[in-house]
Amino acid sequence: MSLLTAAAHSTEADGSAAGVTVAGWGTALPARRVTNHDLTQHLETSDAWIVDRSGIRERRWVGPGESTGPLSVAAARAALARAGLAATDLDVIVVATTTPEKPLPSTAALVAAELGTTAGAFDLNAACAGFVYSLATASALVSSGVARTALLVGADTMTSIIDPGDRATAVLFGDGAAALVLTGGPDDLGQPPPPGAPGLVASDLVGDPAGVDLLVVPAGGSARPASAATVAAGDHYLRMDGREVFRRAVRAAEASIVRTLARAGCTVDDVALFVPHQANARITDAVLARTGLAADRTSSTIDRYGNTSAASIPLALAEAASAGTVAPGDLVLMCGFGAGLTVGTALWRWGTPTQFDKEAT
Ligand code: ACO
Repeated sequence: MSLLTAAAHSTEADGSAAGVTVAGWGTALPARRVTNHDLTQHLETSDAWIVDRSGIRERRWVGPGESTGPLSVAAARAALARAGLAATDLDVIVVATTTPEKPLPSTAALVAAELGTTAGAFDLNAACAGFVYSLATASALVSSGVARTALLVGADTMTSIIDPGDRATAVLFGDGAAALVLTGGPDDLGQPPPPGAPGLVASDLVGDPAGVDLLVVPAGGSARPASAATVAAGDHYLRMDGREVFRRAVRAAEASIVRTLARAGCTVDDVALFVPHQANARITDAVLARTGLAADRTSSTIDRYGNTSAASIPLALAEAASAGTVAPGDLVLMCGFGAGLTVGTALWRWGTPTQFDKEAT
């Protein structure tokens, strides 16, 4: 056993140690359920093709009044309620999204305004890896003492950038949001958390620049601002080379997971719960086969929600946490990949809110 392994196992993370804790979590999904059968009414596709190629059976799509902002607010309220905290307790809000409520201001600023908090707020766009990037960012703010309480939201309304007539993408994506409240940080003496404390154990944030053109919304940014011509050409919609994304995502996710576990001095057997980005059940199966991670300790929502981009990992994590699947001290491995290509893996030790955190209320 290496020194790092010994450290990772030396302290029971029972909530008594300083660190960063998930104090609460919440989800928000549009009411409208769209089944594969529904899609066959206007697309040349079939339930069998979609299930066989992706594992998706249904997804949620927004209706009137539902979009990234309101979904984020609803998920945030649920997470704060579970944490027993008020919005005014928040120091920072990070919203991971690739489909913001508006180009400006940030969705996080809109969430802060709706919740009634003066917390610092910013969006983070790392596509479907956005939640892992945001978790690394928000937990760094908390563990360093910059913020004591952080709200982290993963939210996307993928239907806002999907061509409803493109069967190659329309069947894969869904809308949704999920939020975590993180609390903790250095103790009153400013000491860093001891080994075994809850929070980020190891992470790996990397890119695959050769895949930068594989998932693109061509227009609507500063290079090609939206115009009647870009809309007429459908250039405000997502274009994807699915087969190449699949190939690269599997290899990149495997490599990132291997690096992350090595940094922590852990093996796949130490992972209590694996929460992969929910893009395609076949991608997850391939990653499990290559890494040796256990299928029965892998969280899956792909059949019910499809690919919800930055929301997919926190949705699956929140469902697992609500089902009591994770216990204090457990190691949770999360891995996301998406446009860019961006890849992010986080190994997180689950904890319970400490007395220190509770006093912040
Ligand atoms: N129904 C029926 N047939 C379809 C459909 C559909 N919905 N979509 C495509 N087809 C057809 C294609 O036209 C093609 O037909 P052809 O052989 O006559 O040309 C055939 O099915 C096979 O198409 P492929 O694209 O080769 O199918 P594949 O097995 O690769 O599966 C899929 C496609 C599901 C998109 C897969 O490649 C995939 O999941 N890729 C990863 C995509 C992904 O994860 N994207 C999100 C990344 S996260 C982010 O940042 C947004």
